[in-house]
Amino acid sequence: MPNALRDDVYRRPLATALERLEIGPGWRCVDVGAGGGDVSVALAEIVGRQGRVYAVDSDPAARDVAAAEAAAFSQVLAITQAGEDLLLPEPVDLAFCRFLLMHVVDPAVVLARMRQAVRPGGWVVAQEPITSAGRVGGLPLSMPDALHPDIGALLPALVLHAGLDIVDAWAEAPAGVGPGPVSDYLADLTGVSPGDDAIVLPPLVTVIGRVHGA
Ligand SMILES: C[S@@+](CC[C@H](N)C(=O)[O-])C[C@H]1O[C@@H](n2cnc3c(N)ncnc32)[C@H](O)[C@@H]1O
Repeated sequence: MPNALRDDVYRRPLATALERLEIGPGWRCVDVGAGGGDVSVALAEIVGRQGRVYAVDSDPAARDVAAAEAAAFSQVLAITQAGEDLLLPEPVDLAFCRFLLMHVVDPAVVLARMRQAVRPGGWVVAQEPITSAGRVGGLPLSMPDALHPDIGALLPALVLHAGLDIVDAWAEAPAGVGPGPVSDYLADLTGVSPGDDAIVLPPLVTVIGRVHGA
């Protein structure tokens, strides 16, 4: 899937989460399952050259793409590492993942590693979809290839059970009809053009968790 397209249609939930966090210059962050680096670049723009963003992905090819995307940002370090083995050279202020937990074998393990990577009082943010809550022409979408296509529906409980305080949680879904980025995204995701059917893309559930302590 073209990364810029995902960034385009799901940009709003990312922006909402970053505003809610009040993230600023100098923050140290990790983007787990960074893929093409959309989230890493968004974080890098905010934390500036005094900050640091670790773009972590288990796929070395994704690491290379993220590194290329972030070439203009010396504060981004692309690392090949599984989320299950997450280990960074320093504690971070924020651990972020988007469209990752739906693909891992045991999301609880990855969330636990993200929590361990964060300093006391720091933040863990996860953004995951409820794929079957998407609609095309009123009918449910499905994404059977993902291990946990509806993990967004369980995300608040998963974050709580990872030992984090839940500061905020919500869902947002891009929607549209006719030609445009929402239609293009869906066609890319499913291989089928939605034509003039109304589209509600899978809602992305965001959970903002905080690590105990200050
Ligand atoms: C759907 S992409 C999401 C990319 C990016 N987070 C975004 O929102 O645009 C999922 C990414 O997670 C990576 N991934 C899958 N399993 C992983 C794991 N266990 N540890 C780290 N990365 C993983 C994949 O290689 C892929 O790059």
